[in-house]
Amino acid sequence: MPLSMSGMPLTKFLLQEQRKHADSSGSFTSLFSDIIVAAKLISRAVNKAGLIDILGAAGGKNVQGEEVQKLDEFANTAMLHTMELSSFVLGMASEEMDDIVKMGGPHSRGNYLILFDPLDGSSNIDVNISVGTIFSILKTPNGHDGVTEKDFLRPGVEQVCAGYVLYGSSTMFVYTTGNGVHGFTLDPSVGEFLLSHENIRMPERGKIYSINEGNSAYWYDGTAKYIEKLKSNGSGYSARYVGSLVADFHRNLLKGGVFLYPADKKSKKGKLRLLYEANPLSFIVEQAGGMSSTGDNRVMEIVPEELHQRVPLIIGSKADVQEAVGCWRAAQ
Ligand code: AHG
Ligand code: MN
Ligand code: MN
Repeated sequence: MPLSMSGMPLTKFLLQEQRKHADSSGSFTSLFSDIIVAAKLISRAVNKAGLIDILGAAGGKNVQGEEVQKLDEFANTAMLHTMELSSFVLGMASEEMDDIVKMGGPHSRGNYLILFDPLDGSSNIDVNISVGTIFSILKTPNGHDGVTEKDFLRPGVEQVCAGYVLYGSSTMFVYTTGNGVHGFTLDPSVGEFLLSHENIRMPERGKIYSINEGNSAYWYDGTAKYIEKLKSNGSGYSARYVGSLVADFHRNLLKGGVFLYPADKKSKKGKLRLLYEANPLSFIVEQAGGMSSTGDNRVMEIVPEELHQRVPLIIGSKADVQEAVGCWRAAQ
C-alpha cells in the first residue's frame, strides 16, 4: 500500500520545525525521536494487551497509593529505556516512581528533563477503553551538572514541549513546542505517525462537560452551581466522561468542551498531578486557544512544591472554563 499521502511523517515535521531555528543543535529532534519510539512500543503493547500477559495488576502500589497495572509498568520501563539511550536527557520523573531518575553521565550532552505519566487511565486498560501517555519537557541551564528534584519543580510556563499519545481507535500523537498544536496518526502499515491534524484550534465554546458525577456529594457550591447550570433544560450540553483524562481532553480539544476534576470535600487538592498531567495538557490547551485553571489560579503559573503534587483542574474551551471559574469564585 503506497505511503499514505495524508500527511508528513512526524520525524520529517520535526526536522522542518528544527530548520526554523538556525542555532538548533538537533538535540531536541533526537530526543523527540526517542519519545516516538517509546510511543510505538507502548502502542503495540496496548493493542495486543489481551493476547500477551500484560493485563491486570502488577502487584504493589505506587507513590500515589494506587494499584500498579502491568501496562503501567511496561509503559514506564519503555519510556525509561528509550530515553536512557538518548544522550540529551539529564533526568526523568514519572507518576510511577517515587523519586527522579538521574540520567546524566560522561556521555551526556543534553540538558533536558522529562516528566511523564506513562499510562493515563489505567483503570480502563482491562476493559479496552482508550488510555494514553502524557509528557512534559523542561530544559536545565547549560552546563548543568548533578540534576536534583528541585530542577523539576518549575512552573508550567517554563515547559519547552508538552504532548500526549492517545491509544484509542487509532493511536494519535499530539504535541506543542509553543508554535501551535499538531496531531499525528499512527499508520501501522508503515510504522510512522503521519500529520493528520495540523494546527489544532479548540472551539471557543463547546457543548460537552466531563466530570465524575459520582463525586457530586462532595462538590463545593461553585462546582455544584456550574454543573446544575449546564444540566438546566435548554442548555444543550451533554455529559461525556471516559475516566481517562487524555481521552476526555482530546475529544474536548477537537470538539470543544470542558473537563473538570475540581477540589472537593474529599480531595481538597483535586486528584490530578500538576507536573505530568495538568501542566502538559495546560500548555497544549493554551496553545490551541483554550484555558486551564484550578478555579483560583492559571495552572501554568503554579510554582510546584513537590514532585507528585495534585491540583484541581478545569480545562478546555475558553468560554466554558471562564464560566466554570466564574461560578467557582462567586461561591468563595
Ligand atoms: P492514572 O491512570 O494515570 O492514575 O490517571 C487516572 C486519572 C485520569 O486519567 C482520569 O481522568 C481520572 O483519573 C479519573 O478519576 P476518577 O476515576 O476518580 O473519576
Ligand atoms: Mn494519569
Ligand atoms: Mn498513570
